[in-house]
Amino acid sequence: MRLLQGDISLVQRAAMNRPAILVTGSTRGIGAALAEALVARGAMVIRHGRSAAPGVIGADLGEPAAAEMLWEQALAAAGGTIDVLVNNAGLFAPNPLEASDIGWLDGWEETLRVNLTSAAQLSRLAVRHWQARSALGRIVHIASRAAYRGDSPAHWHYAAAKGGMIAMHKTIARAYAADGILSFAVTPGFTDTGMAGDYIASRGGAGLLADIPLGRVATPEEIAAIGVFCALDAPPSMTGAVIDANGASFVR
Ligand SMILES: NC(=O)c1ccc[n+]([C@@H]2O[C@H](COP(=O)([O-])OP(=O)(O)OC[C@H]3O[C@@H](n4cnc5c(N)ncnc54)[C@H](OP(=O)(O)O)[C@@H]3O)[C@@H](O)[C@H]2O)c1
Repeated sequence: MRLLQGDISLVQRAAMNRPAILVTGSTRGIGAALAEALVARGAMVIRHGRSAAPGVIGADLGEPAAAEMLWEQALAAAGGTIDVLVNNAGLFAPNPLEASDIGWLDGWEETLRVNLTSAAQLSRLAVRHWQARSALGRIVHIASRAAYRGDSPAHWHYAAAKGGMIAMHKTIARAYAADGILSFAVTPGFTDTGMAGDYIASRGGAGLLADIPLGRVATPEEIAAIGVFCALDAPPSMTGAVIDANGASFVR
């Protein structure tokens, strides 16, 4: 039987050496839960947040040069090789139509840069890193239900960024599968983190939960479990997949 490059799973690689995984936005919320779950599986996790802290690389992804700086520092921290990139960092700041024209444009561009452009920059650097070494690699994109369903009137930019992330993910999956470079996406609905908390309260709390057949929002640990699966366990044939996690609030 011919062994295809993509048939060697990262689980097998983990048995040989610990996979190095960069998780952006891993100071709190879904990213922190994912980092902990990956460490529990034996991975070497490189953590990132807006500001540097012990064990955390600081890079404000709203700055154009930040993604490249983060990648270089993460590579150094990992000893020169990164096996998996998780694009998780995200911003969910309202951008009301009533804002000034320039204020609305600034809000749009900041969310697009943090939620999409920086993920594209990091994905490009990761793909080139693996191509230069003929190495296997995986990217996990933490997108959102908003990519498919849209979002509130103050969140055009958020939905557009997440929709763009899904289109980018599918493009990466199709382009590099033959090289063993795989791409997975997760589309959570409301998840119990700081990002969702204020929003849920502002939209009526329990009333909003009535739209979720499961009767509750997701926990960060549930989304992290899907992220771990994509980063370490998902079979190569799943590349290009988008995994929903929204309590059946949006089924498609
Ligand atoms: N919570 C939800 O309901 C929900 C639903 C669907 C999708 N998601 C997606 O899941 C991902 C994680 O969300 P979460 O709820 O865990 O968010 P969160 O609790 O607000 O945490 C956001 C993370 O992203 C980082 N981050 C934000 N802006 C940044 C910037 N400019 N530069 C660098 N890092 C930045 C934060 O770093 P600092 O701690 O340094 O600020 C933090 O680590 C996001 O992509 C989000 O869009 C969340």
